[in-house]
Amino acid sequence: MLTEIDHIGIAVPSLDDAVELYRATLGLAPLHAEKIESQGVREVLFKVGSSYVQLLEPLGPDTPVGRFIERRGPGLHHVGYRVEDVTASLAELKERGVRLVDEVPRIGSMGNTIAFAHPEAFGGVLVELVEAR
Ligand code: CO
Repeated sequence: MLTEIDHIGIAVPSLDDAVELYRATLGLAPLHAEKIESQGVREVLFKVGSSYVQLLEPLGPDTPVGRFIERRGPGLHHVGYRVEDVTASLAELKERGVRLVDEVPRIGSMGNTIAFAHPEAFGGVLVELVEAR
């Protein structure tokens, strides 16, 4: 079902500070920046090999990432796995009794089709499925 790690999502209070940190320490240059209103975030992507690091800054405290930072502090927020077909993968997970956040796929970063499975199903790790456009 999974073909690669697509990205690691990291919750940060300040995108500007985090971008500067990743630039200064790891020499990474931002590849893509986007505001995703439907998820309540601004994001910056860095490319590492064929995967991405996705920095996520909440648009406000009352957003999923805002609440995450409030509850658990900044840090690793989710793992994004690449799949060939999100709809088919969701159906498989559902069949296996995995609790889902999204019953149907939605459009995420860079126009990709995505869906989230609930962290309760994966030992506290929020899992995102990503079908590249
Ligand atoms: Co993501």
